[in-house]
Amino acid sequence: MDKFVPSNQGSISMTSPAKSSHGRSATDCYTSPPTESDPYRYMQGFGNRFASEAVPGTLPEGGRNVPQRCAFDLYSEQLNGTSFISSRQTLQHVWMYRIRPSVAHRPLEPMTLNTDIEACFSPSNPSIKYTPLSYTWGPLEVPELATSTTFLTGLKTIGGHGDPTNKEGLAVHMYAANASMESEAFCNNDGDFLIIPTEGALDVQTELGRMMVSPGEICVIQAGIRWKVSLPGGKARGYVQEIFGSHYELPELGPLGSNGMALPRDFETPVASFDIDETKWTIIHKLTGELFRYEQGWTPFDVVAWHGNYAPYKYELSKFVSFNCTLKEQVDPTIHTVLMARSKIPGVSLTEFAAFLPKWQTSTNTFRPPYYHRNMATEIGGLIYGKYGGSTREQVAGGLTLENSYMPHGESYEAWVKATSEPLENILVGRDSLGFMLHISSHFSVTKFAMERHSCIRSQRVAFWDNVKGPFLDHIPAINKMLQEQGLSPLGTP
Ligand SMILES: [Fe+2]
Repeated sequence: MDKFVPSNQGSISMTSPAKSSHGRSATDCYTSPPTESDPYRYMQGFGNRFASEAVPGTLPEGGRNVPQRCAFDLYSEQLNGTSFISSRQTLQHVWMYRIRPSVAHRPLEPMTLNTDIEACFSPSNPSIKYTPLSYTWGPLEVPELATSTTFLTGLKTIGGHGDPTNKEGLAVHMYAANASMESEAFCNNDGDFLIIPTEGALDVQTELGRMMVSPGEICVIQAGIRWKVSLPGGKARGYVQEIFGSHYELPELGPLGSNGMALPRDFETPVASFDIDETKWTIIHKLTGELFRYEQGWTPFDVVAWHGNYAPYKYELSKFVSFNCTLKEQVDPTIHTVLMARSKIPGVSLTEFAAFLPKWQTSTNTFRPPYYHRNMATEIGGLIYGKYGGSTREQVAGGLTLENSYMPHGESYEAWVKATSEPLENILVGRDSLGFMLHISSHFSVTKFAMERHSCIRSQRVAFWDNVKGPFLDHIPAINKMLQEQGLSPLGTP
């Protein structure tokens, strides 16, 4: 180590100054390495403009996206996920350099592969109903192996609001599958998929690369991108929230500062990956919930290089940095928001996706369960794994609950008695469980499938609240005595 000594002139000098020596420069951008549960590499960051090439030298030189002739005679093709004249902040697009352009295919034709998908939630649609009833569903039943069911054919719409043609609204689906998609890709023209697996990893191959998404992780695949799902475990179940006309983004941090909640670097976007495959493929598009197909004589996964910011990503929910009250009071569950999307109304979200991880409860003199409430927002809750911590639902992992806009809810009377009388100690709640909630700023319609054909519809608990007492009434004699002492009129007696 160099030794610093004062010079005779009163300034600082070094004896035996070390010669500057260069260590090493990085030769590539960082990608997260494969793990035991995920064989793929990813680029890190949220909303970045990424660049990735599976063959070196296949991205065009800077200054042009559409060279007269691309490297190795690839085709250049752009996918825009926003309008041409969008603000810089919202503009999302990607340039792909591929073996064949995606336009090269046989004509589209309608198909009836899955009639349990809905996308248009006008009250005039006979397949949906707006109802103030609360609902609880168990997991979707995985079909028998004799009935080959892919992610796409096993997708069942639970409900939603709005319409993709208005670019406003969303749909919530559940899926149960037992087969991989083979030589078949899906492209959703209606909106972006947020996929939440509860059982079975999803090996998702997209035009922009591959992702392995396991329970405990989520992924987002934007509208217009072609992708397929393989099931390495043989079966899979989970949820999808599909948003129309908007894209997912990170919530503002506000007074939390520059760190916390979902950290941008923990979002992982696939690297470019392509196949060489000149066999017959079927591509299925979803438009207003209807399916259309076309065929082509090669794989759609032939993008050798790409750059842009319209690309799928995944996120491991355990990485979320939670915040909580430490001394008193409660924080609203939106403090757990991982992703949100904006509605067309300034300042109003279309939806917020919040994840509930284990947390320490340390608050003093506080009613710790969720307070009794009614919200403008519809609340849809799911349990990815573990046990349901509330008292009012028969909720299990893989199930779903619905509490519609403005309908009151809160814990049972027994839970209220316990929470208002037990000593408050520091406890870790939610250990070994992972839940989520969708806060949806609208009424929410329920599909006929969810009301009539879902394999596990929990019945309404008619007498659940009959035992609620009003302990205030027991205090009336004491209150009247107090009022009398203050010269005030007594309360009436019930
Ligand atoms: Fe609530």
